[in-house]
Amino acid sequence: MRYAVLEAISRRRSIRRFKSKPISRKVVNRIVEAAQRAPTACGMQTYSFILITDKTVQGEIFKAIGEQECMKQASVWIMICADMARQLQLFELLGVKTRFGPLSMLVPSIIDAALAAENMVTAADALGLGSVFIGSVWDNLKKIAEILKLPRNVLPIVLICLGYPDEAPPTRPRWPLEAVLHENRYEMPSKELMKKYYVDANQQLVEMEYFSRGIRNWAEHWQNKFPRDEMKEWEEQLAEDLRDLGFLPC
Ligand SMILES: Cc1cc2nc3c(=O)[nH]c(=O)nc-3n(C[C@H](O)[C@H](O)[C@H](O)COP(=O)(O)O)c2cc1C
Repeated sequence: MRYAVLEAISRRRSIRRFKSKPISRKVVNRIVEAAQRAPTACGMQTYSFILITDKTVQGEIFKAIGEQECMKQASVWIMICADMARQLQLFELLGVKTRFGPLSMLVPSIIDAALAAENMVTAADALGLGSVFIGSVWDNLKKIAEILKLPRNVLPIVLICLGYPDEAPPTRPRWPLEAVLHENRYEMPSKELMKKYYVDANQQLVEMEYFSRGIRNWAEHWQNKFPRDEMKEWEEQLAEDLRDLGFLPC
């Protein structure tokens, strides 16, 4: 049984093409229950998941963050939110006197929500589903919060799109173990190792036709994704949104 879990984790990869087959509510519930089993800071479970089934709401989200083909094809959308609001209400109800400023909310709730999200995609895989994370919610956090009627102190962090896979891509490359695993102290991988990793990984990605829209390699992909001038503007907007949602100090 334990090996089955390891196998599921090592074969997981993002799926971006889905069949139109619906996913039953029972399956969705099982995935969410798996998310709830993730470790959680002080047992607080500072996350909420918004199942987005209404086409009008989906349309508003497309307008807010743009459309990706995989979003259009997915049968189920789940917005993963870092949620301190519910826990703060519970504290109030119980008369528990704590202090949670923006940063003390941000750290545990983002970790909780991200761990839950990872459990969700692993569970989805075990149930024969494919999944992909959509991070572009960070491009328009406040609008997403408004569309989903999120109260203050609830932050959308990632959208998970689920569906029955209509593709079977190979797993995508990762750094070799020695580049990410350090012993006792940090050691930057050698330039040779980095170059070799990049060349090999890139070749694999080209072979699996990972790049599209004229992008030829990872370097171009990253430069295109994170252009200097636009990133500055994005960060300023992000800081403003995080402040307004209660997750950055004013
Ligand atoms: C925070 C986050 C945001 C992501 N956003 C997107 C996205 O907007 N669109 C997409 O197609 N994939 C997205 N992905 C998936 C990554 O592209 C993918 O995980 C990565 O390329 C590694 O591939 P793999 O998941 O197949 O191993 C995102 C993943 C993470 C963790």
